[in-house]
Amino acid sequence: MKTLILKPTELLRAADIIKNGGLVAFPTETVYGLGANALSGEAVAKIFVAKGRPSDNPLIVHLADKAELENVARDVPQVAYELIERFAPGPLTLVLKKRPEIPNEVTAGLDTVAVRIPADPIARELIALSGVPVAAPSSNLSGKPSPTTAQHVIDDMTGRIDAIIEGGASRVGVESTVLDITGKIPVILRPGGVTLSQIREICPDCELDRHITERVEPQDTPKCPGMKYKHYSPEAEVYVVEGEDCSDKLSELIKVAKNEGKKVGAITLFGHKTEADFAYDCGSSNEEYAAELFDALREMDKQGMDVVYAEYSIFDDYGLAVKNRLYKAAANRIITL
Ligand code: TXA
Ligand code: MG
Repeated sequence: MKTLILKPTELLRAADIIKNGGLVAFPTETVYGLGANALSGEAVAKIFVAKGRPSDNPLIVHLADKAELENVARDVPQVAYELIERFAPGPLTLVLKKRPEIPNEVTAGLDTVAVRIPADPIARELIALSGVPVAAPSSNLSGKPSPTTAQHVIDDMTGRIDAIIEGGASRVGVESTVLDITGKIPVILRPGGVTLSQIREICPDCELDRHITERVEPQDTPKCPGMKYKHYSPEAEVYVVEGEDCSDKLSELIKVAKNEGKKVGAITLFGHKTEADFAYDCGSSNEEYAAELFDALREMDKQGMDVVYAEYSIFDDYGLAVKNRLYKAAANRIITL
């Protein structure tokens, strides 16, 4: 299949592809998404093939405007509107009861649907022009780090999808916060750009799903089906080095691995210097770390690193989203100081 590379000025063409049942990758403020008409099971099924995604992992339905919410969800609780008022458009996904018009391909047979209104103007205009809700996972090959630039999407998806819209780099850099409000208390299923304490300003009883902070065993059936899969895994073996003052330990580990003849990468903060063969600094805040992390992980593979040590040393609210992605990339290889 030939994959068109479209400019943000060619959204009508992209919208036509979606209307006709095709797949279009588009920028959002979190990560690039791979969109299809959410009302067509046949179109949505193509997403799973293109990504190599397990079919029991449901997709997020993207809307251009909150006015469309009740076209996809039913029995919407009042708190949903309060959350939308505060955080939408933006990096928050709400799990709601689904309307029967949403095909099983989107929700993997669940009775709920995940809904998000992205903040990126290109994403919203594309959805509006398509005239349908747009189902979209991250636009990476399943298991790879999510794409935060058009180039990442080109690297993974060329030849597998109809078109890629070339926007800029994703500002947030990690996927949206997934919040389930269908139960007794609101539960965060995936941490993201909207933090637990921000959500608690509206839902004081909101909790984190235990799978966010605990290791997931294969026999578990987490509420957020995506959480049981291996994610963000570069070819390199990633280790997280966690502690407020971990730069000495990082240097030491890197020296040992180099002496073993390995090609060693470092993902650092605060410009910490190491003797790594290839280093990628992710700034001096978790917001900057989130924006850089997936690019850093992809770059480690491009540079042919065997092993990567990633520093995690800023412990604040926003850090949970970064830590969650790091832990998954490291498949639980964590060195805590
Ligand atoms: O920021 C984002 O959310 C990006 C952009 C493109 O919007 N999308 C994204 O999609 O990260 P994806 O498919 O990579 O992740 C969707 C997550 C998965 O963990 C999935 O299991 C969960 O949302 N999910 C989807 N529908 C659900 C539902 N009905 N109940 C519980 N979890 C659901
Ligand atoms: Mg994904």
